[in-house]
Amino acid sequence: MSGVPAVLNGDRLLRRFYTLADAARGRGLSRRVLEDLEFHDGCTITLDGAKLLNLTSCSYLGLNTDERLKEGAIDAVQRFGTCYSSSPAYSALPMYRELTEAFEDITGSSVLLAPTTTLAHLAALPLLARPRDAVVVDAHAHASVQTALEHVRSAGIPVHTAPHGDTVKLREMVDRVVAETRNRVWYVADGVYSMQGDLAPLAFLNEILDEYPSLHAYIDDAHGFSWTGRHGRGPALEALGTHDRVVVAFGLAKSFGTTGGVIASANRELVDLIELCGGPLSFGGPVPPAVLGASMASAQIHLSDEHHELSRELIARILAVNEECRHLGIPLASEDLAPIRFVPVGSTERMFTIVEAMKRDGFYVNGAMFPIVPQGHEGVRFTVGLNVEQIDMFTMLERLAVHVRATSESDVVIDLTESARLEKHQPRKPSALP
Ligand SMILES: Cc1ncc(COP(=O)(O)O)c(C=O)c1O
Repeated sequence: MSGVPAVLNGDRLLRRFYTLADAARGRGLSRRVLEDLEFHDGCTITLDGAKLLNLTSCSYLGLNTDERLKEGAIDAVQRFGTCYSSSPAYSALPMYRELTEAFEDITGSSVLLAPTTTLAHLAALPLLARPRDAVVVDAHAHASVQTALEHVRSAGIPVHTAPHGDTVKLREMVDRVVAETRNRVWYVADGVYSMQGDLAPLAFLNEILDEYPSLHAYIDDAHGFSWTGRHGRGPALEALGTHDRVVVAFGLAKSFGTTGGVIASANRELVDLIELCGGPLSFGGPVPPAVLGASMASAQIHLSDEHHELSRELIARILAVNEECRHLGIPLASEDLAPIRFVPVGSTERMFTIVEAMKRDGFYVNGAMFPIVPQGHEGVRFTVGLNVEQIDMFTMLERLAVHVRATSESDVVIDLTESARLEKHQPRKPSALP
């Protein structure tokens, strides 16, 4: 572990961020480079000489190692080279149009391609939220959304943070902000939250969009896209896609098995505005040929009957994992239908202990700590995907249950120590301790 750089003096939050990130790196739990030098099978990874089952992949349908996607990428590179070096604002390869049309078929919306979801947010949000508008953002919205909203804030547009998962408070806030805003109010949220795997309250959003004519919604559905809904268009488009006051951004680097971002909306005018004036998309480089080729192959799978089968299998797997966690007594932050599961453990040290123990047992899971989650909400995160056999997944859950139990027992020891300390002030017989 290294010392905190002096440039961070006076910035308490960033110092804490640095200290924790440095500790995770020091314990070998983050910023790792795989030791699989020749080949990645999509299911296991090698770290510190040990082969581990990888429970952190967001390629939920297992498409990242699909031969058809690899061939699509290779074919595109053979035909068009490694990079068509021009901003798409000037000119783009024909696959740009072909892929855009494929996404229009998948989503039933107007769409726009971006090299990443983050760039899509940076292009879209500062254009969609105009002076005299206001924004209400869910407190757990992804960091990429929050970064784009910094640009909105710096344009003098008010950005209010709504508490996560509380529709009563959200309605009160929307009601108040709509009343005090002269123009539009944008509600910004994730479709599937990337840490706790819970869903935005989409039915409720439909209700309030009907109720408040000035309310608009911008949803980041990076983790919802591709594995559920018609052709995999995701829960946000499935629930709100026909609404012309809704814009959905989704990512291709998760379940879709490639990389990149897409903006989709039933409102062609809004998509057009972002295409013509979205800074990072006009002044930056294109999606590279390899990604366009792999994405075309993935889009064709999404538009085929095969996708229906893959989606059905994954959903059955998620339900089975929820059931098994209940059976084993593993507490989940959410049982919403999503391929991300989060076990709250409440402290960074306990999270480290569990992730390390899982690694010793041959399982690679993620730890989540500040600032990814608020302090006190640390947890262990794992994903459910078709790359991993269900039987191996269940073996992993058995080990996780053991370590969650073992560390909660050591928490009790801490509680007893705490009680003992208190006892000095209020003497009690040890037998009276819980
Ligand atoms: C919810 C969410 N949005 C956006 C992103 C960023 O995606 P990209 O890498 O395509 O910019 C991520 C990445 O992890 C994410 O989880």
